[in-house]
Amino acid sequence: MLERTTVTRYVTPLREGGSLPGVVEAADLGTYVAKFRGAGQGVKVLVAEIVVAGLAALVDVPVPRLVLLDLDAPIARYEADEEVQDLLTASLGLNLGVDLLPGAFGYDGSAPPPPDLAARIVWLDALTANVDRTWANPNLLVWNGATWAIDHGAALYVHHSWPSKAPDPARFAGLPYDVSRHVLRDVAAPVAPRHDELAARLTPDAVAAVVADVPDEWLETTPYLPDVAAVRAAYGDLLAARLASTAWVPGA
Ligand SMILES: Nc1ncnc2c1ncn2[C@@H]1O[C@H](COP(=O)(O)OP(=O)(O)OP(=O)(O)O)[C@@H](O)[C@H]1O
Ligand SMILES: [Mg+2]
Repeated sequence: MLERTTVTRYVTPLREGGSLPGVVEAADLGTYVAKFRGAGQGVKVLVAEIVVAGLAALVDVPVPRLVLLDLDAPIARYEADEEVQDLLTASLGLNLGVDLLPGAFGYDGSAPPPPDLAARIVWLDALTANVDRTWANPNLLVWNGATWAIDHGAALYVHHSWPSKAPDPARFAGLPYDVSRHVLRDVAAPVAPRHDELAARLTPDAVAAVVADVPDEWLETTPYLPDVAAVRAAYGDLLAARLASTAWVPGA
C-alpha cells in the first residue's frame, strides 16, 4: 500500500518537466516531486507511474518511493504564479508524490549503471512499452552513486485508447519494442537471456498486488470496463499477455 499524506507547501515548479511537476512539502515532513492530476495528460499517466514503479521493484530497478498526496484548496489559492495556480486548482484532491532525491543529477552517460541493472531497465521499458528513456529525455537520475528510474507516465500507453475500445491484450502482447533509441542500449547486458528469470518474478498475484496500489478514483471506467475491478483486471490481463510473449523482448 502506498502511504498517503497532505501537501503543506508548494515550493517550486520543475520547469524541465513537460507536465509541470512541482516540488512540495508534506505533512509527513517529506519533500516530494508532485505529479498533478490536473496536468494535461490526465490521471492515466499517474496510473502508469504507480504500476511501472511497482513492477520495477519486482525486478530490482531502483525507483524513488511513491506516495499519494492530498492537495487542499488553500495551497492552490495562495500560489502567486498564475500557470501554477491554474494547475493546482485543477488538481485539488489526490495527486502522486515521488520522493525527491536531493542533489540527484540527470543521467548523462558519465556514470553508467552496471550492465545487469541496465538490462533490467531496458527489459522493464520494453515490457511496459515505455518509449520515454532516450538521450533526449533519459528519465534516469544518478543519486548516491546509483541509477534511479523516474517518469513512467508514458508507459502502458495503450490504456489511453480504452475509453473508445475494449482492451486488447493480444495486440499489446505482440507490439514490438524499438530499443534503438534507448539511452542504455549500449551499456546493457544482453536482455533476451534474462527474460525468463525476470518474467517469472511478475506472477499474476504479484502484478495484481501492484495494480491494487492504484487508487480507485484514478481507474476510469468505460463501457467495456464497467467498474474498477474490471479496470484493474484489464491491467493484469495486459501484462500477463505481454509476459507470455517474446515479440517485444530486445534481441529475442
Ligand atoms: N524524485 C526526483 N528527485 C529529484 N529530481 C526529480 C525527481 N523526479 C523528477 N525530478 C526532476 O524533474 C524533472 C521532471 O520530472 P519528470 O521527468 O518525472 O516529469 P515529466 O513532466 O513527466 O517530464 P517529461 O518532460 O519527461 O514528460 C526530471 O527530469 C528531474 O530533473
Ligand atoms: Mg521526464
